[in-house]
This record gives sequence, structure tokens and C-alpha cells, in this order.
Amino acid sequence: SSSRIGLEKGFLQCFHRILEANTTSGVIFTRSSSSYEPLLKSSIRNARFLNSSVPKPNLIVTPHNLFHIQLALFCSKKNSLQVRVRSGGHDYEGLSYVSQFPFLIIDLNKLRSISINMKEKSAWVQSGATIGELYYAIANRSKVHGFPAGSCATVGVGGHLSGGGFGTIFRKYGLASDNVIDAQMIDVNGKILNRTLMGEDLFWAIRGGGGSSFGIITAWKIKLVPVPSKVTIFDVSRTLDQGATNLLHKWQTVAPKLAAELFLHTVVGVVNSASDGGKTVVVSLTGLYLGTAENLLPLMQNSFPELDLQQNNFTQMTWIQSVLYFASYSIDGPLEVLLNRNITSPSFKAKSDYVKEPIPLHGLEGLWKMLVMENSRSYLILSPYGGKMSEISDSETPFPHRKGNLYGIQYSVNFDSNEDAPKHMDWIRKLYAYMAPYVSKWPRQAYLNYRDLDLGVNRGNSSYEEAKSWGLKYFNHNFERLALVKARVDPGNYFRDEQSIPPL
Ligand code: FDA
Repeated sequence: SSSRIGLEKGFLQCFHRILEANTTSGVIFTRSSSSYEPLLKSSIRNARFLNSSVPKPNLIVTPHNLFHIQLALFCSKKNSLQVRVRSGGHDYEGLSYVSQFPFLIIDLNKLRSISINMKEKSAWVQSGATIGELYYAIANRSKVHGFPAGSCATVGVGGHLSGGGFGTIFRKYGLASDNVIDAQMIDVNGKILNRTLMGEDLFWAIRGGGGSSFGIITAWKIKLVPVPSKVTIFDVSRTLDQGATNLLHKWQTVAPKLAAELFLHTVVGVVNSASDGGKTVVVSLTGLYLGTAENLLPLMQNSFPELDLQQNNFTQMTWIQSVLYFASYSIDGPLEVLLNRNITSPSFKAKSDYVKEPIPLHGLEGLWKMLVMENSRSYLILSPYGGKMSEISDSETPFPHRKGNLYGIQYSVNFDSNEDAPKHMDWIRKLYAYMAPYVSKWPRQAYLNYRDLDLGVNRGNSSYEEAKSWGLKYFNHNFERLALVKARVDPGNYFRDEQSIPPL
């Protein structure tokens, strides 16, 4: 405790030697501050890390400008404090706000400005903005532009863009990180860099390699993409009795080959069965078409007649309404819900996989048994690839999951009590083991933004060879290049966490 207080004191003295305390109100929060706890919790998006046993930061800094970041970094290094950078706090394993070492959080929630240039069809977005705020800002300027990022409005721009970021229009336009054209960041020496100053290899690394290994990315310049004035949505759900297994079996080969304008994802869940009072699996398909219902109808009837879709299954809306729809908001409500950061988050554990060959029927049947066995809210999200994703080379950015993938799977289990976490985590690990024969192999690939510490962690100053256990899964052959970039920009490995890239 006294060494902890010593670190805090050392940091504060360092900071206030440069900036007087009365000029930095609302920037530094120590554990004795009444705002510390609410601020820490304000963007913990996995309640598994709200447990009292989870280590907490010595300090939280909420910079109002880049100089505050430079100073926080300088004083952290001087006092041997680790830095964790938090934008939206959605990291599945809490890496932006939990560390086993004495640390401070640089929380970017006050750096969230968005400036849109409609002439250039571009925007500068600060990392502390949420993707909901970004969608909202774009919609306020244009009904026919959007941005290809994720579905959940509170996801932070900082983590999302640095780890990939996919959503309902990624088959047409690629990942969020594929649409970044410049960035501003602060490196380990406190230097402010843009694309020209950082060089193309570092610019490559931060678009999918995870920002936390390379520095603090403060803003991104992105390309806006065109969307039609009307898009079309539809939903179809089937239980096992209604033929869900055959439907999903077929979906595996149809959805990745559909036109790039059409996104048809599947959520697999468990509901109470009406017939026998037990539980049954339900497969729910939701489609988004960048076009009118009239054009969609023949497309679906030809490619997926089993869905038996008719005109009255379709709802036309604006693109921003489709954003509300996929974020589970009313499409007729005010767009301002996209700005809401006060949401409650569940405790959960998630994992990911990539599927390259259709899973056979018996494989799906075994999967259903595993899902029904779990006594909690478990679900899978299956996201079809293909389209633009197959056209981008697998080394264009560190995100390697391109051509050859039919779809990605996210497995997730939510639970009410953290005391039961080990039981549910054990179940999801068994589910993952069951899926091994049906998914990508050598390496079994995973999505960085669905961070999973079961894949492997750095122990102290892990070597490149050790880190390959998880690094190849997220980045495949791009891992080596990431480690070479890391060696150039942060050879002392100051920016590190359980799954940061080691210098090679
Ligand atoms: P957070 O702040 O926790 O950061 C995540 C990681 O990035 C940490 O390692 C952090 O240190 C680092 N980091 C953050 N900001 C940084 C910065 N400015 N500079 C350097 N490093 C930085 N994904 C997806 O592709 N599509 C989707 O639809 C969704 N939906 C979704 C819903 C929900 C409810 C959750 C919890 C998560 C998702 N995700 C997702 C996953 C999401 O993309 C992933 O968790 C992102 O990393 C979150 O970014 P945040 O800034 O919110 O996280």
C-alpha cells in the first residue's frame, strides 16, 4: 500500500511540476477521488471485471488534449507505471482497464470530437468517440453516406478501428480499419505522429494489429462510404422442429456468395420449446440489403428459396435506421439513442472461430446438443464473409481473415452472477473444443477484437516464439511483420499487456 501511494505521489509530482494542479482539474483521478470509482466503471463493458478481486488502476487520467497524454506517458514511464489505454472499454478481457502490475488508465472519453468533410467524403474522428456517435454525426450531414463498422453503438472508435471492426456493410466495403486513410498517434517517446511521420509500416500495423502494442492513437481519418437512400431489412426465425438445421446448413454456402450489397447474418440461440416444455435451438437470420425491396425479392427467391420470402417480409428504411435496428433500438425513435453511453453490460465470456468448409449436418446437431446443455444465456453469431472481404489481400492489413472464409463465428455466454463464471467459462471452452474439427486449422484462427486470453498470454517479457501461440491465430503470417514493426517503434516493449505484440 505504501509503495502504491509512493507511485501515485511520484506521478502527481511529475505531472504538476509541468502543469500546476489548479490548471488540470478533471484530468487526474486518484483512488481517493470520489469520481474515481464511477469513472472506472463508466465503460467497463464486461461486468465479469466488476468483481472486487480485479486489480484496479493507481490512477485514471482523462486527457483534455494531446499534451496531457504526452505528460501522462512521460510521468508513467518515470514512475514505472504501466499504461492501459481505454477508448470505449469493450475489450472482452478487460485489457484496457485491468492489469496485474501497478498501472494507470489513460481514458480517452473526453477526446471524442468528430469533424466531417463532405466535400472530401472523409472525417477525422477522435478515438474516444463511440461508433454510435460517428454514425450519428454522419447521418446529420448526409442521408446517403455511412461507415462500415460494428453494430453496438457504444463500441469505442479507438479499440474497434485498431483491431479491425466489422458490421452490416462489411461485405460491400470491408472493415472499419480498411477505410482508415490517416491517423494521429503518440508514440512511446511522446512524439505526435501522422501517417507520413509514422511511416507506412506503423500505419499498416495500427489498422488491425491492435493499437495497444504501438502507442496511443488519438484520432483517425476515415473514408465515408455511399449508401442508398433506401435499404431493406428482413428477419426469419426457425426452431429445430421448423427445419432450422437444414436451413443453417444451406445458409453456410449461400450467405458468403450473395451479392456484396446483401448481408445475411445468423444468430443461434436457445428458447423454451412450446411442444415439450424443454429447450430448443432457434436459428434467426437477419438480412440487410443496400437497395430496394423490389430488387431484393428476386435475388432472395433465386438464391435462397427455402426462406420463402415475400414482399411483406421486407421493411424499407434509411441506412441510419438500419443502424438503429441492428443495435436493437426502435427504428422510429430519435437518433440520439446512438449517443447514449449509459447502458448496463452483462458478465460474459466469448470466443471466435472461422469456418472454411460447411459444417456437416451431424456437426450442427452435436452443436445444438451443446447449446441446449448450457443453463444460461448462450448464443452464437455467424457472420458471412465473401464480397469485398475476399477481394482484399490477407496481408493488406494485419487482419488476415479474407478469401477462403465462409463465415466467422462468435460464441458467447452471458451470466448473472460472477460467482458462476468458472462454470460457464468451462462450458464455453468445451464448446470450443467440440468445434475444433469443423473450423480453421493450423492455425485455428480468431478475431482480435473478440479478444480471448484462453488462446495464450504473454508472461512477463514474452518472446516472439512464445507469443506465436496466440499471435498466429489472430494475425497468421502477418504476426512476424507486426513484431518487426514493434521492435522499430517500441523496442523496450513499454506498451505491453497480456496479448501485446513482442518486439522481434
Ligand atoms: P477498449 O477501450 O476496451 O480497447 C480495446 C483494446 O484496444 C485495448 O487493448 C485497448 O488498450 C486498446 N485501445 C483502445 N483505444 C486505444 C487507442 N486510442 N490507442 C491504442 N490502443 C487503444 N466488434 C466488431 O467488429 N463488430 C461488432 O459489431 C462488435 N460489437 C460488439 C458489441 C459489444 C457489446 C462488445 C462488448 C464488443 C463488440 N465488438 C464488436 C468488439 C469490439 O470491436 C472490440 O472490443 C473493440 O476492441 C472495442 O474497442 P473499445 O475502444 O470499445 O475498447
